[in-house]
Amino acid sequence: MAERSAVPGARVEGPVRFESLDPELAGPDGAATLVGTARPRLSWRIKSRVPGWSQQRAEVRAVDERGTVAVAGLAGADQVLMAWPFADLRSRQRVSVSVRVFGADRWSRWSRVSVVEAGLLEPADWTAAWITPVAGADLPDPAPVLERDVEVADGLLRARLYISALGIFVAMVNGTRVGNEHFAPGWTSYDREVGYRTYDLTALLRPGTNVMEALLGNGWYRGRIASFGLHRGRPYGERLALLAQLELTYRDGRRVVLGTDESWHTGPSRVLADDYYDGQTTDLTWPDRAGRSGAVERVSVGPPAVTAPVAPPVRELETLAAIKVWPAPAGGMLVDFGRNVVGWVRLSVRGSLGGQVTVRHAEVLEHGELSVRPLRSAQATDRYVLAGGATELLEPSLTFHGFRYAEITGITDLEPADVVAVVLGSDLHRTGTFVTSSKMLNRLHANVVTSMRGNFLDIPTDCPARDERLGWCGDTQVFAPTATALADVAGFLSSWLHTLAGDQLADGTVPVVVPRVFSTETPAAGWGDAAVIVPWVLYQRYGDTGVLERQYASMRAWVERVAELAGPALLWAGGPQLGDWLDPLAPPDAPSRARADPDVVATAHFARSTDLLARTAGVLGHLGDLQRYRELAERIRRAFTAAYVAPDGTIRSDCQTVYSLALHWDLLPYGDLRARAGRRLVELVRARGHTVTTGFLGTPVILDALTSVGAVADAYAMVNCRTFPSWLYAVDLGATSIWERWDSLRPDGSVHPDEMTSFNHYAFGAVADWMHRTIGGLAPTAPGYRQVRIAPVLGGGVTSAAVSHLSPYGRIAVSWRIRSGRFVMRLEIPVGVTATVALPDGTERAGVGHGRHELSCPVVRSSGSRTRPPGRLRQAVMTAPGDPAGPVASAPTTTPVNPPVTSVDR
Ligand code: BGC
Repeated sequence: MAERSAVPGARVEGPVRFESLDPELAGPDGAATLVGTARPRLSWRIKSRVPGWSQQRAEVRAVDERGTVAVAGLAGADQVLMAWPFADLRSRQRVSVSVRVFGADRWSRWSRVSVVEAGLLEPADWTAAWITPVAGADLPDPAPVLERDVEVADGLLRARLYISALGIFVAMVNGTRVGNEHFAPGWTSYDREVGYRTYDLTALLRPGTNVMEALLGNGWYRGRIASFGLHRGRPYGERLALLAQLELTYRDGRRVVLGTDESWHTGPSRVLADDYYDGQTTDLTWPDRAGRSGAVERVSVGPPAVTAPVAPPVRELETLAAIKVWPAPAGGMLVDFGRNVVGWVRLSVRGSLGGQVTVRHAEVLEHGELSVRPLRSAQATDRYVLAGGATELLEPSLTFHGFRYAEITGITDLEPADVVAVVLGSDLHRTGTFVTSSKMLNRLHANVVTSMRGNFLDIPTDCPARDERLGWCGDTQVFAPTATALADVAGFLSSWLHTLAGDQLADGTVPVVVPRVFSTETPAAGWGDAAVIVPWVLYQRYGDTGVLERQYASMRAWVERVAELAGPALLWAGGPQLGDWLDPLAPPDAPSRARADPDVVATAHFARSTDLLARTAGVLGHLGDLQRYRELAERIRRAFTAAYVAPDGTIRSDCQTVYSLALHWDLLPYGDLRARAGRRLVELVRARGHTVTTGFLGTPVILDALTSVGAVADAYAMVNCRTFPSWLYAVDLGATSIWERWDSLRPDGSVHPDEMTSFNHYAFGAVADWMHRTIGGLAPTAPGYRQVRIAPVLGGGVTSAAVSHLSPYGRIAVSWRIRSGRFVMRLEIPVGVTATVALPDGTERAGVGHGRHELSCPVVRSSGSRTRPPGRLRQAVMTAPGDPAGPVASAPTTTPVNPPVTSVDR
């Protein structure tokens, strides 16, 4: 076949991506993605104006630093997470990669070049030793600084710093902070593994003597974060430690490696105390570099494995100006930053030597003061002793707080311009947007985004303010689909899953909190199921079979553990459960005493996880397991129905959550039980005036359950409900984040009296995924959004909506509006994605390819105005290529294909 080249037809858009990491290393060598693997996977996005264009094959070109070129051909249409087609990367190797694609009889141009740089891949690459101060760096002592002079000769070509800590580090070279991340190297189960970071120091070092310093904070390693359970009063370790390896490469080829060893010195820093819960105390009068003659020694016992990160680092994400500053009743000034965020307060002050400034934080005000009761024992207080003289910039570096308000004492003339809130969080690339004609729904959605940002800080946590901030698995499990709809969390959640698998007990029990901190663990439905559900969600949303491969043993171990607990009856019954946690009808001080029978909830989860494990086995080609778990899932569903579902369709405990789980997970595939359950759910929802009476496990699925049985009007009435308990109740009370309890703030403005009351807890925000899929109408139906179903469901008075998603293939955008009796929808679909589009009049078109499209139809009547009990509304159903288990929830109703649809390709 004649191959014409470089003629526009398609082009590779933007850089080739490695794994899911953005470029991380910026320096004189240019931006590079740092990887901790010898075989980074490659993805690229394609633009084409040619209708029907598809990639038939691709070529990847790699150029190493010596200029050696390698080209690999890849057959077929795949463009996401492609296996590395070259020889394994060696430690430190840098390769420039570009891609071109062939389709419609011609090659595209070569893409922009992206650089990948391998980190230290082998343990033997580390010649540095873990070091710790011999004395003076115990918990009550100031945070230690470790330092050494570094001689640099002329002719430096490249400098790399590989660095890790037991604790958290802030590295400096000649007084300049290295990198822009916080709380490195993050939170892992340190007895097993700790991360390291790589920095390009070429521009920071100068010929002659340079000073390398690392400040060590307690972080998660020695701080109070693990102050109950496994590490009560006995954190991961008593002594902080540093591992740093500076590698200098000169133009003449010489390489000098300077690792941490006994030649380093240590002394106290200005940080007198630091703790995530309690805050930081900084004495600015302490002279720079004073008293640093203390000796260091090697850490003697078993340091953990040191690995490169797969998640993006924590960075400063934005700053918020103060929207109001006013005198606090008890003295000092109160500041409102307008949004409940996570980070710290940055102040600019002019004070006198020895002056003291104190900053306290809270998420809400009560009786005109900071409401600190919800923080429980966390002091959340930053203190400064001023050096006086010039304007001083005050901000901590080794702590973070969850707050909207701050109380500042010690400054008499505080102006709004002197203070900002610095928002910190994992620097996740935002991929999903959503907006509608409803201000209330938009606010709700924005609050979900805020709570995700606030709690996706190195690991996914329950809440960021009180003395907890733990990786509660149930919260992450229910929120994972929403997280993937909002941001690229592929690396972030894979990294957490890696820790989960490592923390799993030998018998398969998944700790309720990961990284594990509790000394005893009991399997908990919904929490342990994170082991299966989260990898499946990542596979669905990113098309990554790698995460399934890596997690498979963990997924299987969890299902086997539950099978053992359930016994031959296949009912997971009895034993402690967290259950449908925080059901608003449960006693406020006993959140696990939900209306939903915990046995019903547990067996529903057992069926769900077994079903997903079967599908995973199918994807991975484990045919024996596929057979075994498919049959097991079917038998669990039968056992569930026999034990818990009455012939009239009533499910034991007869509440919103049990019907929602049974419907959404298709546990009732027999006879007309499904229709009956649907009717009963609708009755229950109506009987409560469309308020929500579900907890953590029922809330994420109830609107899907209602939608799936055609009760669209009820789903909309629920999401639009403003009476307590409901999502918009909180919005009406001015919430700027998602609350832990439906009534964290009570109608009279008082804070819920129970000690477990946070204002930044994303679990109930799991509704946002439904909003994207149902209101916006964009849902993936094949892994990685390779196929999508675009089917906005009208209702709730919403007259327009726009949803977009940056999929692995490129941006998919849907925007629709109702105007003059017509529904008009615009679509943007990237190369590689195929859509089935359904319009509100029931018409449907399959095989819609890339490009921009406009479709319209008359709006007959809101499809949300009636319930369709017997059938199910056609919803997006995920199928996986090579997934013989197939979708459980199939059997869509057929609709006539498309007469009034118009499509305009541009
Ligand atoms: C956390 C929750 C968590 C729950 C389970 C709470 O303290 O904040 O989000 O899932 O405990 O017990």
